[in-house]
Amino acid sequence: MTARVIDGKQTAADVIETVKAATADLVSGKATVPGIAVVIVGEDPASQVYVRSKGRKAEECGFHSETYTLPDDTSEADLLAKVEELNADSRIHGILVQLPLPGHIDEGKVIQTIAPEKDVDGFHFLNVGKLGTGETADAFIPCTPAGSMVLIRRALETDDFSGLNAVVVGRSNIVGKPMANLLLAANATVTVSHSRTKDLPGLCRTADILIAAVGRPEMIKGDWVKPGACVIDVGINRIDAPEKGEGKTRLVGDVDYAGAAEFAGSITPVPGGVGPMTIAMLMANTLASACRAAGVEPPKY
Ligand code: GUN
Repeated sequence: MTARVIDGKQTAADVIETVKAATADLVSGKATVPGIAVVIVGEDPASQVYVRSKGRKAEECGFHSETYTLPDDTSEADLLAKVEELNADSRIHGILVQLPLPGHIDEGKVIQTIAPEKDVDGFHFLNVGKLGTGETADAFIPCTPAGSMVLIRRALETDDFSGLNAVVVGRSNIVGKPMANLLLAANATVTVSHSRTKDLPGLCRTADILIAAVGRPEMIKGDWVKPGACVIDVGINRIDAPEKGEGKTRLVGDVDYAGAAEFAGSITPVPGGVGPMTIAMLMANTLASACRAAGVEPPKY
């Protein structure tokens, strides 16, 4: 079997088109412009690239967008004050504080200070709890698992995963745990595995839906994949690529793509799979927040 390639770039572009259209309606119908504020502390180049692309995408969607780049030695109190200021700003519907934060700042404290109704990352306890209890109508779902669900629903052409086994490899708060809750809410039978799991290859072979979110380059091999499975690779790992020349690198996922594509029914590439969906869902969450503030039903994806 040769897998169908799940085109995350195209799906993300579809989501963005829906966001743009709904934004235009919100502006004309309710005089509400969705607003997002992104806060970054320090000069980490990779984080700066992410933050710039979030700002550009927000502007493309027709949002009001603010970016705050604070110095590396910003105190926790000053960052919390910035978050409180954005909580109180009615032009801002979504707040994202780029992680990781410098070591002297308590990340948890910062996340829990963001107003839950502006927490477009979905990391606040209130949003985590709503997802865990199935109260998803007005919850924010973390962007990477939300985007992965859109890809799975479109690949399988259903939003009901009854009778399907899903295996999530990785138990992070940002991806693995919310992913498991979303799959469970869609009626899949879900197993969350991690570094202490026994016979991970055998477990993965039971998966009709296999989610790789461990951050270990090409760890999941082709013969771990059940024939016909839907494989979602959340990993983005930069590895040396001497075949491209001295000092060159390339991006790979957590799945051995070439090997897995021989067994899978459908599979996300890296890059061009889950990655573009994450930022698209951040825009979708920000729009949803503005819709809720204006009393309008947000679009579905
Ligand atoms: N850093 C890497 N991924 C993320 C994310 O999804 N949200 C935030 N806030 N920071 C990140």
